[in-house]
Amino acid sequence: METQSLLKVLTQAGIGSRRKMSEAIKSGRVMVNGEAVTGFNHPVDMQKDKISIDGRQVTTQSQKLIYIMMNKPSDIVSTVSDELGRRTVLDLLPQEYRKYRLYPVGRLDKDSTGLILLTNDGELANRLTHPRFENEKEYAVSIDVPMKMAEIRRLEKGIMLEDGMTYPARITRLKSGDYTITIHEGRKHQVRRMFEAMGYTVKSLKRIRMGNLQLGSLAAGKVRELRRDEVEGLVSEYKK
Ligand code: URA
Repeated sequence: METQSLLKVLTQAGIGSRRKMSEAIKSGRVMVNGEAVTGFNHPVDMQKDKISIDGRQVTTQSQKLIYIMMNKPSDIVSTVSDELGRRTVLDLLPQEYRKYRLYPVGRLDKDSTGLILLTNDGELANRLTHPRFENEKEYAVSIDVPMKMAEIRRLEKGIMLEDGMTYPARITRLKSGDYTITIHEGRKHQVRRMFEAMGYTVKSLKRIRMGNLQLGSLAAGKVRELRRDEVEGLVSEYKK
């Protein structure tokens, strides 16, 4: 939980000057979760607490829900902070998004590239990563040696990994050694482990789709906000 003082939050909300906000607090016109609060330093968490002035709810920019897709380059970790000090997806965010508490949904290995979703919508993030709602993920994979048709079929049917059988997958051959694979699960290093279990080495792995979200031609290291229909598509996907 991240708290800030009531006066600071109100001042930053852009409703009125610091003086006006101080007066409103002092005179008991500010309510936090339905109760009048007269202390400037009363701690509030804008993600949880409901604040109102004269009965009107206060919202701040940090509450705006943001959905961003990034084309993660390799050598970037898909976490919010890294104990080894490596660069994270947050380091690639343009300045205008840094004020939001965005975090990546699901993981992409350091060496993998491609589509990663960043949001501050905790509910959507939880639902999208819950095993029951795992949406389809499609990867472009390059391996060292081309696979035989029978091996492709085996991989598609499901193979035993150390954490159990994989669910059916779909594989399309692009050209010699290059494939797309579509899975519904998000186990750690899953795609790499699937190919490795068949005796292949993955040379490159790029996520090109998550459910209705297509990476398209977004350049490596770049971000774009999702369109409204894309957000609605994600929401309807987990409500299925
Ligand atoms: N599967 C993997 O092995 N790695 C990824 O980054 C994503 C899926």
